[in-house]
This record gives sequence, structure tokens and C-alpha cells, in this order.
Amino acid sequence: MNSYKRLKKKKGYITALAPMEGITDSSFRQVLCNIGRPDIFFTEFLSVEGFCSKGREQVSHRLHLSKKERPVIVQLWGNIPEYYAETVRYVKKLRPAGIDINIGCSVRDVLSGGRGSALIKDRELVKRILDTVRGEAGRIPVSVKTRLGYDDIDINGWIRFLLELKLDLITIHGRISKDGYSTPSNWEKIAECATLRDEISPDTLIIGNGDVKNLEQGKEYVKKYGVDGFMVGRGILNNPWLFSGREEISKEERIDILIKHFEIFEKVWRGKKPFNSQKKYIKAYICNFDGANELRKELMKCDSFEEIQKVIML
Ligand SMILES: Cc1cc2nc3c(=O)[nH]c(=O)nc-3n(C[C@H](O)[C@H](O)[C@H](O)COP(=O)(O)O)c2cc1C
Repeated sequence: MNSYKRLKKKKGYITALAPMEGITDSSFRQVLCNIGRPDIFFTEFLSVEGFCSKGREQVSHRLHLSKKERPVIVQLWGNIPEYYAETVRYVKKLRPAGIDINIGCSVRDVLSGGRGSALIKDRELVKRILDTVRGEAGRIPVSVKTRLGYDDIDINGWIRFLLELKLDLITIHGRISKDGYSTPSNWEKIAECATLRDEISPDTLIIGNGDVKNLEQGKEYVKKYGVDGFMVGRGILNNPWLFSGREEISKEERIDILIKHFEIFEKVWRGKKPFNSQKKYIKAYICNFDGANELRKELMKCDSFEEIQKVIML
């Protein structure tokens, strides 16, 4: 039984935190461990090209994995098999729960040069990349996070192709490459992928992704759409307590976790990431209580943890 199947066995489905560049980094994942964690974390995506260049130092922060935030899957992106090989040889030593290949990103810079979801159009290259990664990864499971297709939904072509590779896990974001977030994630089509999985590769787990706003909705989708789990991305910024199932969070708890967030940030990233990169989390914690807007405005003016603490004490 593959390790993801064992994880699923615990409660019948898997909850996953989506990889989100600039958001779901090690310190944020550690915060979530304090307030409600998913069954499995994904790292932000790491460019194999960047990792194999002189700029390795600048991209390697994505490989910071603390003991707490495990199991964690390291996500890689790029389109050069040799760079994947070199990166995986390094990543293996970090003992991640898995290695995931990003074939879903539709940001222009990633698409250019045929990376991210552009790879959907080049199955021969995808096969070479996956063969290389699997060859290097040894016993570490290899998975793919992707979309329903590139120009069109292509379950019988693209998803069938992936299923025939008998991966341990495929995460499907229910959109095609050109869809923005205004088009809803198509869970009916994700369900079709799960049905096809039953036929082609019953041992491959399917995690559905897109627009899940809370734990109850995720659980409902697992039942309704026949997937093995659900992944949450943006929803975690609306409610960082999402994976605990709690919606009502007191002002005191919100402030406590803001402080905790900055304590962890200082420990993990001081001198490595700019303080300003953390301001996006202030809105996630400081909301939904009387006076939240005013407090948030003051916090947004701060340039250090010390200043944050002073504002909180006022
Ligand atoms: C700011 C941001 C950064 C993202 N970075 C990544 C990434 O590094 N790798 C990836 O596979 N997807 C990335 N995504 C896509 C998410 O993982 C997820 O597939 C998408 O947001 C849909 O899920 P949601 O509706 O729950 O947010 C990113 C999304 C956002 C909003």
C-alpha cells in the first residue's frame, strides 16, 4: 500500500494545504500546526532550473522543512529532466513524504518556455520528466498537480495519460490553463477523473482542488465527487483555522496567533525574508471582530516585530 493510501486510511480522506508561492512557506505551515493542520502539506513550488543555477541560494528557502510540518510534499517545476534529476538527488536527503511535479501553473512567466501547465501539451516530455524523477526518487512517492486540460477539458486525453503512468497521487485543480479564478472549479469534471481512475489505475489517489472554503464543504465534496481528499488554497487566508473546522475565533485568539506568527517568522526567516512579506497575513488573522479594521490599519504601518508588539499593547 502506498504511503498516501495509509494516510487516507486514518479517517477515510486526506486534507491537503495547497502549494501557494509566497504564502504557504515553512513559517506559515508551522503556524497552522498550532491552530489546525491539514493531513499533508505541500511546499511552494521550487524551480529546478533555479536550483541548478548559480542562484540556488535565492530559491532554496522553499526547501526549509521543520520537523513539525510533516508529512510534507516538495513541489518542483521546470521542463529540463536533467535539472529535475539533480534537484531530486538533493531533495531526497530532506526526507519529504513525496515529490510533486507542477503541471498546473498558468502564470505567464512559468508558461513561457513550456513550463507549468504548458507541459500538458508535451506528453513525451512529461513522461521523460516523470521517468527521471521516479528513477532518482527511489522509494519516495512521485505525484503530479495539474489542471483538467490546457485549451480544453481533456480527461480522456491528458488525465488518462497521467493515470496510465500509475502515479501514487494526482491532484486535480478543476480548471483549464487559461481559466482565471472567476470561472468556478469544475468538480463534476474532477469526479469524472476519479471514475476514470477506478478503471485505469485504482491505486492512484485523486485529490480535488478549487474553491473549497471550509472543512464541511471539503468533506461533502469528497463524498459527492468520489475523490480521496481535497486541497485548500486561498481559503486558508480567509480562515487560517480552516483545518480545525472552527469558524468562530475570538479577538484574543486572533491576536495571540498574530504574535505567534511573527515569533515563528523571526526564528525561521529573520534576515532572510523581508518583514514586509508578512503583512499579507495580518488581514488573515485580524478580522471579524469589533475594531479589527482600525487595528489592522495600525499593524500595517509597522516595520518590525517590536512595532507590532507595541501596537498590540496599546
Ligand atoms: C498566490 C498563489 C500562489 C500559488 N502558488 C502555487 C504553487 O506554487 N504551486 C501550485 O501548484 N499551485 C499554486 N497555486 C495554485 C493553488 O495551489 C491552487 O491550485 C489554486 O489556488 C486553486 O485552489 P483554491 O481555490 O483552493 O485557492 C497558487 C495560487 C495562489 C493564489
